[in-house]
Amino acid sequence: MASHTVFRLPSRTSVTDLVAVEERIPSISKHEVLIKVRAVSLNSRDIQVASGTYPAYVKENVIPGSDAAGDIISVGEEVRDLVKGDRVVVSFDIAHMYGPQKDFLTGQGGGVDGVLAQYIARPASSVVKVPASAPQSYSELASLVCTGVTSWNALYGNMPLKPGQTVLVQGTGGVSMTAVVLAKAAGATTIVTSSSDEKLEFVQSHFQPDHCINYRKTPDWASQALELTGGKGVDHIIEIGGIGTIEQSIRAIAPGGIISVIGYLASVDPSQRPDVPLLALLKNCVVRGVLVGPRCMLEDLMTFVDRRKLRFHIAKEYAFTREDIIAAYQAVEAGKHVAKVCIVMDWLRGPCREL
Ligand SMILES: NC(=O)c1ccc[n+]([C@@H]2O[C@H](COP(=O)([O-])OP(=O)(O)OC[C@H]3O[C@@H](n4cnc5c(N)ncnc54)[C@H](OP(=O)(O)O)[C@@H]3O)[C@@H](O)[C@H]2O)c1
Repeated sequence: MASHTVFRLPSRTSVTDLVAVEERIPSISKHEVLIKVRAVSLNSRDIQVASGTYPAYVKENVIPGSDAAGDIISVGEEVRDLVKGDRVVVSFDIAHMYGPQKDFLTGQGGGVDGVLAQYIARPASSVVKVPASAPQSYSELASLVCTGVTSWNALYGNMPLKPGQTVLVQGTGGVSMTAVVLAKAAGATTIVTSSSDEKLEFVQSHFQPDHCINYRKTPDWASQALELTGGKGVDHIIEIGGIGTIEQSIRAIAPGGIISVIGYLASVDPSQRPDVPLLALLKNCVVRGVLVGPRCMLEDLMTFVDRRKLRFHIAKEYAFTREDIIAAYQAVEAGKHVAKVCIVMDWLRGPCREL
């Protein structure tokens, strides 16, 4: 049986703990498919897993990475709806078909082995076929798995976004930039916040949001968001900071609006922690935790991005070597990127594509 290269984390103290291992290409059961991975998209979670700060269960010696796109190489004898040659993505949690996430046991690159490998075997039930007409690259498709589904879940999983509503996203990372693309395609007014004028300038020219706010220069960005919405407030907020930003979010939200709590990147002095229940009550708003989303959302998202031919920004692609993968992880860790950082398997060495 032929071997392939996989990356594992025998220890989890830093992104440099990643090691390359030669292993046998996995064999498949009758309900599984074998996928040749073409691209892996990195998330903030991957840095947390590698450095030991991820706040959920991670298996020993895990293969990291949750987001892959690739081609089916072979299918089990009982698989009916997928065939060799199909372009596919795999759902973030291979056992999560519908409804809210109930545990962390089967999330790829956490509770179970992930996708940073040349070949992966997965249950056919966790795999979503990419329509032949979809224009997106493998990197863009891989990026739909975690940040894509999380954004979709935020915008449609509880109080569905309506055309004409306003969506505010915090920061210019993967979740937020994906949410901007989806919200614009749905006819929403969009507001992007960032710590960097340089990033906002790029976002303005590349994504054309309706408004941008530098949250460093304007710490009371809620007042500006209220002004931009004629005092009405924002209908949907993609909450990336968590405890450090939620007070501003509740100030910016329209009465009855929804704040999707997704990230936890901003801290606050414990003595300054906001009284979230009281603030939410007074604003009549929904504060909803969002944990990625089930396979059925990945399918809905795939249909939408194919039909609307939506394209997703990849800041930089790296090669499938230990050196390049660590550089990719470090790029995400450094936070200088806008949107996504990816690893591509059949990458011909040359200058990295930087957008
Ligand atoms: N709940 C879930 O299911 C789920 C799914 C995916 C991600 N997440 C979480 O969501 C967060 C973002 O993930 P990602 O993959 O999009 O990360 P990412 O691509 O690394 O982007 C992170 C961005 O967060 C922004 N940011 C940092 N501190 C901020 C603050 N105080 N206020 C506003 N924005 C701030 C920065 O934007 P600027 O540089 O422009 O300021 C940065 O670019 C992480 O905490 C991640 O763990 C959760």
